[in-house]
Amino acid sequence: MALTQTREIAAASRLDNVKYAIRDLASVANEIVAQGHKVVPLNIGDPNVFDFRTPPHLIEAVHRAMLDNKNGYAPSPGIKPALDAIRGEAARKGITSVQDVFVTNGVSETVDACLTALLNPGDDLLTPCPDYPLYSALLTKLGIRLNTYYLNEEDGWQPELDDIKKKITPRTRGIVLINPNNPTGAVCTRAMLQQIAEIARQHNLLIFADEIYDKLILDDDEHISMAAVAPDVPVVTFGGLSKNYLVPGWRIGWGIVSGEAATVRNYNEGIQRLLRARLCANHPEQYAIPAALEGPQDHLVEVRKKLRSRRDLPLSGAIRRRVSVVFRRAARSTRIPASIFQKAMMCL
Ligand SMILES: Cc1ncc(COP(=O)(O)O)c(C=O)c1O
Repeated sequence: MALTQTREIAAASRLDNVKYAIRDLASVANEIVAQGHKVVPLNIGDPNVFDFRTPPHLIEAVHRAMLDNKNGYAPSPGIKPALDAIRGEAARKGITSVQDVFVTNGVSETVDACLTALLNPGDDLLTPCPDYPLYSALLTKLGIRLNTYYLNEEDGWQPELDDIKKKITPRTRGIVLINPNNPTGAVCTRAMLQQIAEIARQHNLLIFADEIYDKLILDDDEHISMAAVAPDVPVVTFGGLSKNYLVPGWRIGWGIVSGEAATVRNYNEGIQRLLRARLCANHPEQYAIPAALEGPQDHLVEVRKKLRSRRDLPLSGAIRRRVSVVFRRAARSTRIPASIFQKAMMCL
């Protein structure tokens, strides 16, 4: 008689608290759509869903790579033309103490590799609040206690330095700085970056500078790279094609390791070991990196213009009033306070 396995296969308990609000929300929305309601999906930062088109020269570069049979495995850190282009980008960003660069399947994989390579059980990492939920999800997966610092609404959502200082423990290994910030859109001033760098120096911390939105600044702020103002401090700068170059589905990101060579050598070797274990990042798509970083940047003008007008629309009086009516109605039907809906909107 054939045996049937009936015992449920349980997911590992360390995943119990792994949440990713932006996508978890989508399953709730699907249920509402199934009930016949119309839902406008504002939760996922996918420009291609909102009528943005990938610059054609990127598509041509990847198409050519595929026709040239660049369809096998790539070197684990990335292909040379991509690595050279990322080094060129680091120089344009003013990062002078580059020790290594590597390519990943999206910045999401850069973050995964960099956090995994750094943190031991009992360590902690300072992450911003409100946060981009990838960080808390990965920390939870790694069994690392969350240690968040506040972004101060009264100060244009700049990091609250006193809170950072207060939260540092003997086991704090680093600080995550998302600049320009998701979800607030704030851009750090040079003075702010210098003060965070000083805290890192005093406490031997590594800084993760998530700069995935560095070319999508909508106002007059200048983007300054953390690694450029603090060449001596160990920094991993995260960048990628998803947002600036309108290809989130290609899953292309990178890391730029900078600081004193002797300080970052061992940690960088840890990252490289993880990159070798996962073989390589998407291969033909890596050919879009030099095309993107060294080619025409014209699309960015149009993208910023469109984003600016879409950002301004919900801030206008009439729309604000309508949104707050929707929040109140949602609050009534779910018995969840309207302020929670407001906060949830901000985190998207
Ligand atoms: C701040 C931030 N970091 C990282 C990512 C992940 O980007 P990727 O598509 O390159 O994995 C996102 C995506 O929305 C983001 O907003």
